[in-house]
Amino acid sequence: MTDAWIEVFDRVAESYDTVVPFFSSFGRLMIAELPPPAEGTRLLDVGSGAGAVALAARQRGYEVSAVDGSTAMVTRLAATLPAVQVADAAALPFDDAGFDVVTAGFVVHLLTDSHAALREFKRVLTPGGLVACTVPGPLSEGSEPGDRGHELFTEFVRHLPAEDTIVPPFDPDAALTAAGFRDVTRKHLEAES
Ligand SMILES: C[S@@+](CC[C@H](N)C(=O)[O-])C[C@H]1O[C@@H](n2cnc3c(N)ncnc32)[C@H](O)[C@@H]1O
Repeated sequence: MTDAWIEVFDRVAESYDTVVPFFSSFGRLMIAELPPPAEGTRLLDVGSGAGAVALAARQRGYEVSAVDGSTAMVTRLAATLPAVQVADAAALPFDDAGFDVVTAGFVVHLLTDSHAALREFKRVLTPGGLVACTVPGPLSEGSEPGDRGHELFTEFVRHLPAEDTIVPPFDPDAALTAAGFRDVTRKHLEAES
């Protein structure tokens, strides 16, 4: 995989959530929004990174599999979640309709072809299955250089090739609808740390 973002995440895998630890908070908030799992409910976490969403899902009782495009991230997460493998979000190595839930925490807005990835999410979901994605919102009002939001941004921009410092505009509702999802809803989640 040659995606510029994958190279970035390969480089930051070790320090990724230690500089700004709010990814785990968002992972827990996201999983808390899902219905309580019946026994054996299968969840695929795409772009699992260090496991913010996947580990929260397992803790809640989902049967979790995960993929990430970054080999370094997968190596890191495999120590706590063996069912993780390297894969592109737009070419998932799973049969059709094998999962009840697909999650993607702070991933879809980064993808070169987010529409192809969302179609893949739909393909691997059971009919009537659920997809849950988080995308970044604005920093809190009054956010200043030196606070955690700025710290995060600085940490990532430092690793980016100049032409990739700007994330292209992405409308998650429109993208989900275009991929064939119905009943698309949006919820505001806020974490402090
Ligand atoms: C901002 S991190 C989020 C990680 C984790 N979901 C979380 O909430 O902390 C984005 C993750 O998406 C992965 N990623 C980026 N492009 C990808 C792609 N095309 N296929 C699979 N994973 C990808 C990166 O390697 C990284 O681990």
